Amino acid sequence: MEKKMTEKMTGKITPAHLQTRAVHAGDRKPLEGFVPVTTPIYTASSFIYKDVDTLDKVFGHEIAGPAYARYSNPTNDALEELMASLESGAGALACSSGMAALQVALLTALTDRRKSVVAAESLYGASISLLMKVLDPLGIQVRFVDFCNLDAVNQAVIDNQPGVLLMETITNPILRVAAVDRLAQMARSAGAALIVDNTFATPLVIRPLEVGANFVVHSLTKYLAGHGDVLGGMVVADEENLEALRAYSRIVGPVLGPFESYLAMRGIKTFPLRMERQCANACRVASALAANPAIERVYYPSDPKHPDSEAIRRIFAPNLYGAVVSMELKNAQRAEVFRFLNALKMIVPATSVGDVHSMVLYPFMSSHREVSPKHRERMGIRENLVRLSVGIEGADDIIADLEEALGTLANSAIDSKD
Ligand SMILES: Cc1ncc(COP(=O)(O)O)c(C=O)c1O
Repeated sequence: MEKKMTEKMTGKITPAHLQTRAVHAGDRKPLEGFVPVTTPIYTASSFIYKDVDTLDKVFGHEIAGPAYARYSNPTNDALEELMASLESGAGALACSSGMAALQVALLTALTDRRKSVVAAESLYGASISLLMKVLDPLGIQVRFVDFCNLDAVNQAVIDNQPGVLLMETITNPILRVAAVDRLAQMARSAGAALIVDNTFATPLVIRPLEVGANFVVHSLTKYLAGHGDVLGGMVVADEENLEALRAYSRIVGPVLGPFESYLAMRGIKTFPLRMERQCANACRVASALAANPAIERVYYPSDPKHPDSEAIRRIFAPNLYGAVVSMELKNAQRAEVFRFLNALKMIVPATSVGDVHSMVLYPFMSSHREVSPKHRERMGIRENLVRLSVGIEGADDIIADLEEALGTLANSAIDSKD
């Protein structure tokens, strides 16, 4: 019996029929006597054990191990362990996108809590849509408030008795930085969970679970995977919420595919090196833009006059301010912004952040297109705003490309006066 199971597990059976051999021969070899230096891509949708009694114990969580890929998969397990370690969490869940991760975190947190969310006014556009177009119609109360105004958040917490507070550590695209440590205290005293989207800051700059957040969400698509070839998300949870997160996921099945998981893990190995370089480049780019006559205003958290500089100094790792720089072009509207974007020779106009290459995006056209004009105005997103994700290229080349494109803008303004 034991021998038969082993043969079944290792694919060593040698049936006469080619059709049967095509299905079983050579397959299912357990790893023996060696360890691969990186985690392999496990594409199996289900897993077998030496007997069904063992499988039963795996299903019952008496023995750790994968049974079915919606519940867990060794490639995802490795990535989740890595992310829990980077974010100082109890465990993590790899999801098919950043938005899937945010949805999972919100619905997990709301399951046993009051059906009310107090959310930062300044959020990624699709996160606002998730709250307004998915959660609100399900009967979950949603209230937006300026998270950089702690008194206003406190009042909203008293008025709304939320089950969840939601924020981003560096907001997309205006780059505000709310005091996540103080907000975590506020959430705890109100019996609410704090969910923090740490996509723009990354765990190199700040680890929200260490200052009291309950869930951290990432779009892996961005700095963590880093090469523009993966769509993925991650929820990292504290001890108190981890089992609820896993239970929710086992039912709903928002999981990441193993190939993407492998790519994300491969990307994360160089994420701290890339991010350090990107942050240093972004500091130089922000200074160069601030000195450029075609620029009206630069948004970057290293600015000593940044409205949240006190929180930034307290909660961010020294000299790391993220690698997104936003800018307002002087006397510009949509047409001038398009002219500037089209004039860039190296920096690509792509809808993401965090890749090795520099990218620009026009929030009006993409990330915040679906947000109502009123909400966009409250967030401070004007028609002349451009978001730049600074890559790992030589900083001088990034600056030269920007200055040349800004120069064409100034020249065409002079031309149009002639
Ligand atoms: C701050 C932030 N959170 C979440 C997301 C969603 O991530 P994804 O595109 O991987 O679903 C994005 C995407 O741009 C983002 O900028």
